[in-house]
Amino acid sequence: MDFVKWATNPWGQSVPIHIAWFLIWVAVIAGLLFLIVHATYVRYFAKPKEFARDASSEVSARLPKHVPRHSLVARLFHWIMAASMFTLLFTAFLPRVGIQFPWVTYHWIAGAVLTVSILFHVIHASFWLDFWSIWPDKTDLEDAWKRVRRFVGMSAPPPRKFAKYPLENKLFHGVVILCGLSVILTGVFMMFRVRTIFFPRNPYLFSDMTWGLMYVLHGLAGVGLIALVMMHVYFGLRPEKRAITKSMIFGWMDRDFYLKEHDPERWVVETSSSSSTSNRVEGQGLTDAG
Ligand code: HEM
Repeated sequence: MDFVKWATNPWGQSVPIHIAWFLIWVAVIAGLLFLIVHATYVRYFAKPKEFARDASSEVSARLPKHVPRHSLVARLFHWIMAASMFTLLFTAFLPRVGIQFPWVTYHWIAGAVLTVSILFHVIHASFWLDFWSIWPDKTDLEDAWKRVRRFVGMSAPPPRKFAKYPLENKLFHGVVILCGLSVILTGVFMMFRVRTIFFPRNPYLFSDMTWGLMYVLHGLAGVGLIALVMMHVYFGLRPEKRAITKSMIFGWMDRDFYLKEHDPERWVVETSSSSSTSNRVEGQGLTDAG
């Protein structure tokens, strides 16, 4: 069983040309298996979540009814990226499973949209959003250890509530970065192999071997994204995550959901009465509006 398709170039060298397309089905089946195992676990085996402590009633009282979560710009980015990602997946893989259409033009256009939207996202997240909120911190790791111990029946205190993003979301984001950057970097070079509006076609930019490896990396990261997107959509549709999905449409989540899952000390929220930093809810009633 070969994971890569090989061909012989005019100089008689054996070079990789792309991934073996059965890997598409491997990714789809892996994605489906994950969904089935997770859904079964949640339905029949998972115990109710337990967290270390609740926010004080003073903190709860000062929170707005609708806790802001995603700005309009962040939401627009998310949905533009999602549309380009689906277009890329369908244009790339439908022709490989027998649905033929002239896919290349739609594919590179969606690729260009994804590339620009990700460049925008990196700048926006670095300078306007809380850059560190999506990276695991010390508390995440300590809590992960507690959660593992409790999962296997050992004694451990309950973990703290989450910051803006739980560890699982942060790890998912990290894997998406790896696959996303792989398809983008290789995809930009692969645009030299086809006719686009950006630069003249130049299939001689790299050796056959380098091109081949680039196509293989593009394909591997691409099939990885099939499974990742399936998982992401599945979680977005799960009933207990609906408040989070709703926040990606309307920008806010209910105060009750925020208090149930999030720690106001770890995810600091502006109160409704003021947007100044002196009037933010910082955990156990640390700040008082001046
Ligand atoms: C979800 C993301 C993506 C997936 C799943 C994906 C998948 C694929 C696949 C499977 C192919 C066929 C390659 C082959 O025959 O070996 C392909 C070709 C191509 N991709 Fe992507 N891709 C993605 C993102 C991108 C991006 C971001 C760009 C541009 C920046 C891009 C540009 C291209 C180009 C130009 C080709 C055509 C190459 C040719 O026919 O010679 N792709 N893509």
